[in-house]
Amino acid sequence: NLPDHVTIKEVGPRDGLQNEAKEIPTENKVTWINLLSETGLSSIEISSFVHPKWIPQLKDAAQVAASIERKPALTYAALVPNQKGLEAALTADVDEVAVFMSASETHNLKNINKTIDETFPVLQNVVQTAKREGKQVRGYVSTVFECPYDGKTSQDQVLRVSDRLLRMGIDELSMGDTLGTADPKQVDEALVYWKKHLSLENMAMHFHNTRGMALANIVVSMQHGITTFDASLGGLGGCPYADGASGNLATDDLVHMLHKMGIHTGIDEAALQKAADYMQRVLGKPLPSHGMQILNKE
Ligand code: HMG
Ligand code: MG
Repeated sequence: NLPDHVTIKEVGPRDGLQNEAKEIPTENKVTWINLLSETGLSSIEISSFVHPKWIPQLKDAAQVAASIERKPALTYAALVPNQKGLEAALTADVDEVAVFMSASETHNLKNINKTIDETFPVLQNVVQTAKREGKQVRGYVSTVFECPYDGKTSQDQVLRVSDRLLRMGIDELSMGDTLGTADPKQVDEALVYWKKHLSLENMAMHFHNTRGMALANIVVSMQHGITTFDASLGGLGGCPYADGASGNLATDDLVHMLHKMGIHTGIDEAALQKAADYMQRVLGKPLPSHGMQILNKE
């Protein structure tokens, strides 16, 4: 019981780049996003409107949003932590804003400087204003399996945070394996549990690939009916406030696996490779995806 079609949300320009130490010129980000727009992807998270001191790499979010060539069929999204970030995102006129918080207390504190309970009213306002302004709103829940500080995450806590975000009126929930340590059995058990309390219909999974288990976790998620996944081209990425976590599942590897399984994505693998090759040259180092490793040997 696998789906015929899967939607992939490209988070490379945000999650992929936010952890890159070397400052990438704005024009290179813009060219990369334009190349990504040519691949058949339906959604790209282009940057985040967070404090530049916290994430220096993405301080040019407004310039990026103003300079990219937008395709009408595509959703251009940005991450926002609070009302100030939302105002900047509205000025930049992105199509979708993504709010974020963690299911574990310490990661939430380290990442956005608030307790979980202090975060709810902040996000409530952001979601309300964004919806009023006609924006789609996505809600990330981080550390749904494990927290770098608090250890294993209680699934009741995951439900509490998810339910609260859904009641604020978000359109989609994205469940984050921030550390990239979840295994397929754990994902299976979590989905069985979540299903009892939440609808999986508007749920996306967001796997980091620290231990190479993300593709296996995707298969398990699809078996439960999940059809939306976040990924980052070339496998770039990681959360600076989750030490030891590596990049997201690579978009190129995910698309390759799905196409081999006869599952449609609407994405052109050759165009994806071209975009990955471009960012590899900009960064001046090999990208970690399997697809790029093979390409680099040829
Ligand atoms: P804070 O210091 O508590 O903020 O930071 P504050 O509200 O106390 O304000 C302090 C100053 O920051 C003020 O300026 C504000 O104006 C300014 P001052 O008056 O001192 O001159 N400020 C801002 N400036 C620019 N943009 C803003 C903004 N907000 C306030 N939006 C804050 C709180 C949330 C801002 C900070 O902690 C922050 O920026 N955190 C971002 C962390 C982050 O981006 N982490 C990575 C993304 S999450 C992730 O990767 C996980 C995910 O991929 C899913 C997964 O894998 O699990 C999504
Ligand atoms: Mg992430």
